Amino acid sequence: MCGIVGYVGPRNVQDFLLEGLRRLEYRGYDSAGTAIIENHHDLLVTKSVGRIANLAQRVTGSSDDCQIGIGHTRWATHGAATLVNAHPHVGGENCLAIVHNGVIENFAELRSQLVSQGYSFVSETDTEVIAHLLSEQIRQKTGGDRSGTTYPRELGMEAIREIMPRLRGTYGLAILFKDWPETLFAVRLGSPLIIGVGDGEHFVASDASPLAGFTDQIVYLADHQIAMISEDRLQVSHRDQGPVAHDVQKMEIRSNQVELGDYEHYMLKEIFEQPESIRNTLRGRLNHDDATPVFGGLNLSPQELRKVKRIVLTACGTSWHSALVGEYLIEEIANIPVEVEYASELRYRNSPTEAETILIAITQSGETADTLAALKEMKRKGHPTLAICNVVGSSIAQEADGGVYLHAGPEIGVASTKAYTSQCIALTLLALYLGRLRHVSYETGRQMIDQINQLPEAVEKALQTNRQVAEIARKYHACDNFLYLGRHYNFPTALEGALKLKEISYVHAEGYPSAEMKHGPIALVDLNTPSVFVMPTGFIYEKVMSNLEEIKARGGPVIAIAAQGDQRVADVADDVIYVPPTAEFLQPIVTVIPLQLLSYHIALMRGCDVDKPRNLAKSVTVE
Ligand code: M6R
Repeated sequence: MCGIVGYVGPRNVQDFLLEGLRRLEYRGYDSAGTAIIENHHDLLVTKSVGRIANLAQRVTGSSDDCQIGIGHTRWATHGAATLVNAHPHVGGENCLAIVHNGVIENFAELRSQLVSQGYSFVSETDTEVIAHLLSEQIRQKTGGDRSGTTYPRELGMEAIREIMPRLRGTYGLAILFKDWPETLFAVRLGSPLIIGVGDGEHFVASDASPLAGFTDQIVYLADHQIAMISEDRLQVSHRDQGPVAHDVQKMEIRSNQVELGDYEHYMLKEIFEQPESIRNTLRGRLNHDDATPVFGGLNLSPQELRKVKRIVLTACGTSWHSALVGEYLIEEIANIPVEVEYASELRYRNSPTEAETILIAITQSGETADTLAALKEMKRKGHPTLAICNVVGSSIAQEADGGVYLHAGPEIGVASTKAYTSQCIALTLLALYLGRLRHVSYETGRQMIDQINQLPEAVEKALQTNRQVAEIARKYHACDNFLYLGRHYNFPTALEGALKLKEISYVHAEGYPSAEMKHGPIALVDLNTPSVFVMPTGFIYEKVMSNLEEIKARGGPVIAIAAQGDQRVADVADDVIYVPPTAEFLQPIVTVIPLQLLSYHIALMRGCDVDKPRNLAKSVTVE
């Protein structure tokens, strides 16, 4: 949550900042702002409430005499989405500007100390505390001398280093000091920051998306590191260790991956990218000769993995739903007991864990604060940790002992779609890999690999339901309550369908195992409460069909997601969306497609902002 950009170099600074913020807008869109230094000493701050488009109308463009600037798009934590609370925040006497992603937990305490020292606050934010703390540190180091005496920029770096131990919480910061108009400072603890290295220019951003098309050379700033950045020089220091070397890595993202192209929304683009994103997750990971998936980065040997007695899967939101799919898969295919834990709960629970337990964190962004904290806690207890993650180099990917990258490409729509199906496929591969280390035969392994290979094509066919799904959405879009029901592998699909609808169309939806609805939710059923049944053919089909009949007997409309060729369901359901028949262990990846489309169309018809639903942000980097 919150997106940060920074730039130092010869380009038009405001243009880059606005473009970068547009690409980061999915991280928060409550307010936005930029700060630039013009004519070597004028610190110019522009802010607006709401979207980047509002900011673009206020920004006048930077003069030729401007080489440096920072920008921010906000997801409000401390203080409402108002102009005064928008970033950048300035420090005492307008001597510096700062943008922040994260949360300062002890801000109230620091604030009262600063107030007693004579600082006055204009905002309710935790960030303004950092701005004043830093200006106070500079004041102490210079003896309050603002007479134009030139101090070296290292003094700025030093002041940042000195205030870091006083800040409790998380931060990614980009800072401009009026006294060092050619230097941009960046520092992080627990919130992501990367630096783009160009030819005679440098960029700062919360993630790689603003840099695509500008540079493919990036440096991941690590926790406790401070960067001092000018046009042609990048120096990185560690808070306690002093200057440290930095690795420049090649970035994977191309600019066309972060553009909308012919699509109206990122969510729709990403839904339709799924055959390709699944192929990318599978690429190079199926070994036909040995009838097993293969992984490059687990960092656990087959011998170590054979000894695993329990797997804990942890995640939040949609990624938690893929963890549930993973639970069914791993228990069924590899016969290893699995627990699925909300990351926010796992961190504070003290559940007994056997020594031979591994933790797998599942996350699209790799930055979700709860998931990161849960992983750290399990690592601290001595358990090996893996991450199934989309964003290369993200905090969770760096923190885990090993893992699997999804390679699904950047996911920009706040509602997760292609990352979800790629997570499910990564977990399918992992389940089969673990199964093949144990009891799954060569022949079964071969058969399952063949079935997995057919998956992208099945997803392509499932996408062809788009037009029909739009018609069904038209029929039901005014309903204010929905039930989503499924069993076994398709119970998590029901949860995911309900979450998709809730988050982008603000319609109340409940996901349940279909048999469980008899124990309460069936009371919700009436003429205006559609039930979406996820019921492809399989061993549990008959039972789900009985559950469907129970809803019909009470007058509830039913939309069924069924396998092509199932004529029976058409006699009872009001609407049927057919998807290609697939092996049961792959069904969740196919059946979720019409549910993603259904939520998309309903949200559009209800006039909602599909890519940027209210109150949400793509990466939840606060607890
Ligand atoms: O980046 P992560 O996968 O860790 O994010 C977890 C959730 O915040 C995320 O899945 C969220 O629920 C999505 N908005 C769902 O579409």
